[in-house]
Amino acid sequence: MDARSSTRKGWASRAGFVLAAAGSAVGLGNIWKFPYITGTYGGGAFVLVYLGCILLLGLPIMVAELIIGRCGQRDAIGSFLVLEGPDSRWKWVGAVSVVAAFLLLAFYSVVAGWSFDYVFKAASGEFSKGGTEQIGGLFLKLTASAFRGLFWQALFLAATAGIVIGGIRGGIERWSKILMPALFGLLILLFLHSMFSPGGMLALRFLFTPDFSLLAPRALLGALGHAFFTLSLGAGVMITYGSYLDAEADLFGLSFRIAALDTLVALLASLTIFSVVFSAGMPIDGGPGLVFKTLPILFLQLPFGKLLALLFFLLLAFAALTSAISMLEVVVAYAVDEWCWPRGRATGVVGLAAFFLGIPCGLSFNVLKGFALLPGHTVFESLDLLVSSYMLPLGGLMVAVYVGWRWTRDRQCSAFVNLHPEGRLFAAWRFVLRYFAPAAVLIILFNEAGWLG
Ligand code: PHE
Repeated sequence: MDARSSTRKGWASRAGFVLAAAGSAVGLGNIWKFPYITGTYGGGAFVLVYLGCILLLGLPIMVAELIIGRCGQRDAIGSFLVLEGPDSRWKWVGAVSVVAAFLLLAFYSVVAGWSFDYVFKAASGEFSKGGTEQIGGLFLKLTASAFRGLFWQALFLAATAGIVIGGIRGGIERWSKILMPALFGLLILLFLHSMFSPGGMLALRFLFTPDFSLLAPRALLGALGHAFFTLSLGAGVMITYGSYLDAEADLFGLSFRIAALDTLVALLASLTIFSVVFSAGMPIDGGPGLVFKTLPILFLQLPFGKLLALLFFLLLAFAALTSAISMLEVVVAYAVDEWCWPRGRATGVVGLAAFFLGIPCGLSFNVLKGFALLPGHTVFESLDLLVSSYMLPLGGLMVAVYVGWRWTRDRQCSAFVNLHPEGRLFAAWRFVLRYFAPAAVLIILFNEAGWLG
């Protein structure tokens, strides 16, 4: 262990780690994206396939990422250097992840900024001012205004940096312990309320009655891809968070808890949103505008609607914040561990850099609407496509191949020690990493690239 590692402070408690890692996993992916893709792919059958992907693909890769970090005890690139030596090519696995985390932060902060704006709108009573049309128009107004978008995006990034600057214990763990219970509380409140609304039963039926005839092959691929995104895999988060864990941590058990919390939030959020949609007698397939355009209108038709809308957007903002801090931490940990930068400087510089890259992402909805980075895609869409569809699955694939094939039982026995290498769970885990995950991810990537027709 060198001087860098010995000054690293880890999580104060296992619960703190689980809350922080679940905080990373639970984000816009759960509350904004999962409900609308479930709507698009037809409900129950998609949910089942998605659950299968989390269990069979996401969980094993999460364990693999955590174990790399725990053994390396450094950031997502440094851990590979420790484990494989300074000249090893495996460091590129870490490099892809760190770059993915940085790019992700830049465009994630745009949508996260919208959630801040909506908290403000809900709190200042803007939703009650107009009729349905005005409220629907608020989203267009927000995305049309370059200044307003950038303002909230900057504020969001400043809040993210304000937490990360405090370090693992004093910043990330401390805030996760406040924000995550608050998020669960808000969600349970909204969920219970929605179950008593006229659409409650319909939502339950929609989500839990699988109709496999509705399941298109694309849905399977959608579920696979989303499993990576929602569990924060392939972006170095679990390697970095795992590097602050102690040697005795039970990685199977911890990963299971993180994935379970993530799935629970996605399901409860979807049930809540669908009950609201069904109560208003709307069609389910709302598309990406579901949360920002449709939902505020629908909330206001319910009793206590203004309060509900405020609680809902607070929930969304908290979820986005605890995810963004994990993205920033991946890059900050790299600068601190590898360049020996003080945390304050690292956070400031990386946060600012993310904002500068975030500017063209934010402007993609107004000033730069007509500018394509990748053919036919705005800057925002290009980065989203690059990161969510290619870099995260690629990062996850390489992690699976690395731990599955490169780590042999005798070489890595100390790392495997509390994974019970003689047990069946371990054997299943290795099988997934060696064969199932690489095959599944290659299929996703080839499909995204359009090679499967
Ligand atoms: N899991 C987060 C979400 O669902 C997104 C994320 C991906 C966060 C990768 C960190 C790393 O919104």
